[in-house]
This record gives sequence, C-alpha cells and structure tokens, in this order.
Amino acid sequence: MNTKKREKLDKIIKKHEGGHGALLGMLEEIQKANRYKYLPQEELSYVAQKTGTAYSEIYGVATFYSFFSLIPQGDHCISVCRGTACHTKGSKKILDYLKNSYDFEGDDTNDAKLFLTTKDRKLTVRTVACFGQCALAPVVEIDGDIYGNVTVDMLKEKLSEL
Ligand code: FES
Repeated sequence: MNTKKREKLDKIIKKHEGGHGALLGMLEEIQKANRYKYLPQEELSYVAQKTGTAYSEIYGVATFYSFFSLIPQGDHCISVCRGTACHTKGSKKILDYLKNSYDFEGDDTNDAKLFLTTKDRKLTVRTVACFGQCALAPVVEIDGDIYGNVTVDMLKEKLSEL
C-alpha cells in the first residue's frame, strides 16, 4: 500500500476511532473513498492492525451488511432483493430486465448471489437476501436509496436519470 493511501486511511481511522459505531463509520467512509466503492482486503487488514481489532471481526462486519462490498463496483450500483416476499411480487422480472439490458462481466447464473458489473464499469447489479422492507416488495436499492413496489417501468425511469 502506498503512503498516500496509508495517510488517507489514517485520517479516516483517527476521525472515527473511539466513537459510537466506530468500525461501521470507518468502513463506510473507506468504501465511499474508494474509486470502485469497495473494501480491498489490504485496507481491511490495515484497519485491523491500526485499531487492534481482530481481522475476523472486521471481515464479519464487512460481509454482514449488504451495503459493503469486497468486490469492485461500477459507478452506479443497483441491488435487487431476492427474498421470498420480493420474489413473489416480481423481483425476478426486474432482475431479468437488468441482466438483459446491459453488457455485464461475471457469472449471471446464480440469481441468489449475483454480482455483475458492466464492462465499462458504469453499473453494478447485485442481489441481496432481504432488505427488511418486505411490506414494500419488490424492493430495489439504487446508489444507496431504497425504492419499494418497484416495476420495470419505474426502474427504466430511474435508470434514465442516472
Ligand atoms: S424479501 Fe425483499 S425486502 Fe424482504
């Protein structure tokens, strides 16, 4: 890791250290600061070393919350819920529309654990197990904003705004 990156991480760690929800805040800011909006393993290791936190704990947090990604993401990210309530209300249709509309890299066969990024790195489409907003099914998250009762037409409109 280069000096510039280390300094950036030191600043973020110092800002959050000791505060309420420190680790979550640190990881959120580190991911936002990354060009590809993800948490590289070497940066997680650095946080573990600097804060004296077990790497397994940091990894556990980074993999528990759907907001975090350990894989590079595109400029925009769409997460489609594939939980039971959303599936029943049509999330598969939404996902199929996305899969068929863009030129993605990656394995698109496992809808339950999908993570696809377009070749131009403009868009990532992923699936999550449940947002905990089942009453609003089908639920889709676009760049961190949650939308409920989503239809393909609604999604088309949102995509045109990106
Ligand atoms: S099943 Fe989609 S939000 Fe719960």
